[in-house]
Amino acid sequence: MAVLNARSVLVTGSNRGIGLELVRQLVGKSNRPEWIFATCRDPEGPRAQELKNFAAKHQGVKILALDTSEPSSVKAAATRVTEWLKGAGLNLLINNAGILKLSTLETETPDSMAEVYKTNVIGSMLVTQAFLPLLKKASQESSQKGMSCSKAAIINVSSEAGSIKNVIVWNEGQIIGYRCSKGQPPLTVDRSVREILNTIPSLSEKDHGTFVNLDGKVLPW
Ligand SMILES: NC(=O)c1ccc[n+]([C@@H]2O[C@H](COP(=O)([O-])OP(=O)(O)OC[C@H]3O[C@@H](n4cnc5c(N)ncnc54)[C@H](OP(=O)(O)O)[C@@H]3O)[C@@H](O)[C@H]2O)c1
Repeated sequence: MAVLNARSVLVTGSNRGIGLELVRQLVGKSNRPEWIFATCRDPEGPRAQELKNFAAKHQGVKILALDTSEPSSVKAAATRVTEWLKGAGLNLLINNAGILKLSTLETETPDSMAEVYKTNVIGSMLVTQAFLPLLKKASQESSQKGMSCSKAAIINVSSEAGSIKNVIVWNEGQIIGYRCSKGQPPLTVDRSVREILNTIPSLSEKDHGTFVNLDGKVLPW
């Protein structure tokens, strides 16, 4: 099994749920990233307390404010990470933040749909865009270290993760997306995150633009 090998990782929406578990499991890895940028909307608010408690016990976990629906917040986070990395690139960006609004055709509203689109879709695009220079930098670093072209490329795929949805940008500049699939049995957060972190390193340039399941197998869109 390929091993996750990233010096720096950023996770959005990391104060609870899948995001918090991603941070926990990344820290628990034997070759854990040196820097884990754990971003959330309100680092000073009560919803970030669990993350703050965790970060206080683990070196290299840096909490940053990032609201995906606020372009200025996304840019400010990218600036801070750029400063922190002091010229180095960002190996893995996990666009996990998102909202889910349960509704039916009878109850759905334009405002609600627009909010979901703004947060989940436009937000992920803004985050990816803001961190792209750092991802490219990581990709160049990998090339200079003699990694194969495919490992250094930027790749964008979507992946089925049971009842889990994420959009992920990965290692050496590779980009990955995770999204929910209806009809799948629900996964525990723990298992989903384990599968996600196991799948990410096995992806390569050939996976760009595809929709893969948790095992990394390509699924039809
Ligand atoms: N778990 C599932 O079965 C499932 C199913 C479908 C999709 N998903 C998707 O998978 C991702 C993670 O799921 P989850 O179960 O961990 O969800 P969750 O427990 O609801 O957590 C969502 C996270 O996203 C953050 N967030 C929401 N809007 C944000 C914004 N504008 N800017 C920054 N952060 C924002 C939340 O922060 P606050 O604490 O500030 O709200 C929270 O940290 C989400 O994108 C979710 O939509 C999950």
